[in-house]
Amino acid sequence: MNPVKPGETRRTPWIVGVSGASGTPYAASVLRALLAAGESVDLIVSRASRLTLLDETGIAFRDAHWRDDLRQWLSRGADGKPDTFAVDLGAVRYWPAGDLSAGPSSGSYPSKGMLIVPASTAGVAGVALGLSKDLLQRAASVTLKEGRPLVVAVRETPLNGQTLRHLVTLDDAGATVVPASPAFYAGATHIQDLVDFVAGRVLDAAGVEHRLYRRWEGELGGGSRAD
Ligand SMILES: Cc1cc2nc3c(=O)[nH]c(=O)nc-3n(C[C@H](O)[C@H](O)[C@H](O)COP(=O)(O)O)c2cc1C
Repeated sequence: MNPVKPGETRRTPWIVGVSGASGTPYAASVLRALLAAGESVDLIVSRASRLTLLDETGIAFRDAHWRDDLRQWLSRGADGKPDTFAVDLGAVRYWPAGDLSAGPSSGSYPSKGMLIVPASTAGVAGVALGLSKDLLQRAASVTLKEGRPLVVAVRETPLNGQTLRHLVTLDDAGATVVPASPAFYAGATHIQDLVDFVAGRVLDAAGVEHRLYRRWEGELGGGSRAD
């Protein structure tokens, strides 16, 4: 037990779940922005997402060396070039996806909510059906049962009826579905701009301040719409 003493503040993180859909740069952008905003983060990386991370970044993510691997992941942009982010991982706590006794498995573990980015259709199904097959899915079910914000950045195309029904189930349960679909009216000139637009909409849904994209200010040709 580790009770909070008078005068102490309780660490209340955002849980970030990375599942095995294409789009690991979205996760990196969300993680960088959360840390830049001064938020604490509890990170869960699904087993399958190690394949997408390897494919998309060349990084072989290891539980035992998560800090080194995460630092490397967050240090590069979507085009593989170094990002200017100063990597301080002091606010990150990492939980192996197979650890069902981890903090986020319980509703009594404090959190502000959970962001699944990117979300695979398998992950969407698992959360919609309450399967809790790993810590990521269990933490999402806990987030819903506790009435905390759950943001699901699903990445798949086309979507079949089954996934569409699962997404409606999640919406009905109180989650916000944010498809990983970048917009082209926000003045994007690089891949990273498109990535940051999606990451920014994920953070908008969670109510986290960020400066990832230029917001629409009502002028065609110069501003950027935000919807
Ligand atoms: C390179 C690669 C790319 C993938 N891209 C997607 C994707 O964009 N969307 C998706 O739903 N699944 C995708 N998958 C399949 C998922 O990884 C697979 O369904 C897995 O079971 C998801 O497990 P998880 O939800 O536990 O992470 C991809 C798999 C690989 C290897």
